[in-house]
Amino acid sequence: MTVNRLELFPLTVQVKKKSDHLAIGGCDCTDLLKKYGSPLYIFDEATIRSISREFVGEFGSRYKNCVVAYASKAFTSRPLAKILKEEGLGMDTVSGGEISVAQSVDFPADKVFFHGNNKSEDELKMALEWGLGRIVVDNFYELELLNRLASAKHTKANILLRLNPSVDPHTHRHTTTGILDSKFGFPIGTGQAELAVKSAMSMKNVSLKGLHFHLGSPIDDTDPYRQGLEIVLKFAAEMKSRYSFIMHDFSPGGGFAVRYTTSSEIPPVSAYAETITGQLDSWTSRLGLAKPRLIVEPGRSIIARAGVALYTVGSIKEIPGVRTYVCVDGGMGDNIRPALYESKYEAVLANKVTARPSKKVTIAGRYCESGDILIKDIVMPETASGDIIAIPVCGAYCIPMSSNYNMVPHPAIAMVKDGKARIIRKRQKYSDLMKYDVMGKA
Ligand code: LLP
Repeated sequence: MTVNRLELFPLTVQVKKKSDHLAIGGCDCTDLLKKYGSPLYIFDEATIRSISREFVGEFGSRYKNCVVAYASKAFTSRPLAKILKEEGLGMDTVSGGEISVAQSVDFPADKVFFHGNNKSEDELKMALEWGLGRIVVDNFYELELLNRLASAKHTKANILLRLNPSVDPHTHRHTTTGILDSKFGFPIGTGQAELAVKSAMSMKNVSLKGLHFHLGSPIDDTDPYRQGLEIVLKFAAEMKSRYSFIMHDFSPGGGFAVRYTTSSEIPPVSAYAETITGQLDSWTSRLGLAKPRLIVEPGRSIIARAGVALYTVGSIKEIPGVRTYVCVDGGMGDNIRPALYESKYEAVLANKVTARPSKKVTIAGRYCESGDILIKDIVMPETASGDIIAIPVCGAYCIPMSSNYNMVPHPAIAMVKDGKARIIRKRQKYSDLMKYDVMGKA
């Protein structure tokens, strides 16, 4: 099913009749750009809350004992963490920095999960000190280290083991994690997962609470989850019979896809929820396992649609018979995804939303690199310098993966709601870029 470009935008999208301007959260995007400068990222609070509720509803209505833990790597900031806390979500973190954000808004520690394939000693100590919900142990080095650190603190670390079930989710190779040749998790097929369960159960200072896997991202099909659940739950049953392991918690990770383009075909949240909870329910019954708590970790699917990137068009270069480059004032510094994963996006002109698309162009960024292309070959209305380009579905993995390449400051971020906008991250200044440079006396 092909949708209209506007349907990719946040739920509150509107076209102002008189001006033909794009509005999000009741705010005219061209006014926001005038007020806060360009480029600008905006997030729509209503969309964040509505999609969070959809996840909680779809999973929670099918499986009562369930936590929806937002994967904060997709985008994190203190105001966002506060909203998600209000919505009752948990949080998946992967660094001391992400843990600090959660702590700074008094996020309930027991709903925080800590991931990573090479957590530092300091980060593990931080997790133990805060007493966050679960540390998801990724490898033998970490298991030993954590046992030692917990012993020194006279405490017990509550852990999950991240397993690798060898299921290919067919995502971009950079974002596939569930195949055997991956840096993440204990492979089941090699016997290492079993050894990890056995070791963890014999350790004095770790308490093995459950199992986790994450296959990749974005996964636009429910079948890899079906396969992963079957493999990991059968493994849990074997561990129960061999070592009396009780699985209190179970997580199939995140990775749920979102619609980036008008032609993307992706399952609704209900389909992921149906597959995951259905498999969990039926396999636990068939295998005689107690019903564990289910933890799902959506990142992209909670936040992607809520975010819009706004850019101003500057130079336009027409190469007769070859291509027209429409250059904007952002690019790979704030959205590396097209360059890194060949990710596809759509765009509209925020100041002439309903103008008829008539010309194929390539939207290029402002960075000194030929690969800095945001959208290759998109049919746009007649576009002129000064026009505003709005790219939808920019809420996930754009800002968190941004850089200061070419010493270009990060854009500001505004949160919109009910016709009002507030800045949630200030635009960087040149002085910010030099803040940590010191002349360094020898
Ligand atoms: N849980 C674990 C253990 C993960 O590693 C990830 C993502 C998630 C949950 C959340 O996945 P999501 O629901 O957001 O798809 N930078 C890439 C995506 C990398 C995802 C890394 N792990 C991108 O821009 O597409």
